[in-house]
Amino acid sequence: GVAVRIVPSVLPVDFAHLGEAVARLDAAGADRLQWDAMDGQFVPNLTFGPDVIAAARPHAGCGFEAHLMCERPEELFERYVDAGCELIIVHPESLRQPHAALRQIRELGAGAGLALSPGTPVAFAEPVLDLLDLVLVMTVNPGFGGQPYLVSMEAKVARTRELIDGSGREIALEVDGGIGPDTIAGAAAAGADVFVAGTSLWRAASLAEGIEDLRARAEA
Ligand code: DX5
Repeated sequence: GVAVRIVPSVLPVDFAHLGEAVARLDAAGADRLQWDAMDGQFVPNLTFGPDVIAAARPHAGCGFEAHLMCERPEELFERYVDAGCELIIVHPESLRQPHAALRQIRELGAGAGLALSPGTPVAFAEPVLDLLDLVLVMTVNPGFGGQPYLVSMEAKVARTRELIDGSGREIALEVDGGIGPDTIAGAAAAGADVFVAGTSLWRAASLAEGIEDLRARAEA
C-alpha cells in the first residue's frame, strides 16, 4: 500500500497571509498541501484559482494537489498544473466525460484523482481505475471546512480499499473532511492512507505537533 500521508488543506488559513501560512504548513511537516478550488457553482463557496496557487508555489517545498470543486474543470487543468500542482482531483459529477478528463490530466504530466462525495457511489471509480493515482472519499459534503466527520463513510472507505487492493494498482486512498485526532484512527482502520486535515490542525498546540499527532494516530 501507499505510505501514510498527512495533507493539510489550505482552506482554513488566513488568506490575508497566505504565503506565510503555506510556508508554515510546509515547515511543520506537511507531505503535500491540498488546495480546495471552489467556483461558487459546483459548491456554494468560492475560494481560489490557479494564479493564487502559482503565487504560493515558491513559498513551499512540498507538493501541491488541487481538489477541483468546479464546473467544467477540464477547461483549467493545464492552468493548475502550470501553477505547480502535481495532482489534480476532480468530481465525476462535474465532468461530461470522466474517462477522457482523467486521461487529459495524466497527459499533462500530473497525477489524477477522483473525488467521491458522500452521495456518490464507489462504483464511479471502477471503470477508470487504470487512470487513477488516488481516490478521495469525502467524509463531509464538499464546500466548507470545519464540518463534522461522517462516520457513516467508513464503510465506503472500506469498500474503496477492497476495490483498490483488488486492482493490484498503487492507488492512494485519501479522506477529507472532519479529519482530526478523534476521527483519523477510524478512517485509517477502514483503509485510508492519505489524510486531508484543515480545521483540526489549527486547534493543535503547534502545526508540527498537530501533523505528527495525526501521523502517529494513522500509523497506530
Ligand atoms: C470541503 C473541503 C474540506 C477541507 C478540510 O470541501 O475539502 O474538507 O479540505 O476541511 P476540515 O476543516 O474539515 O478538515
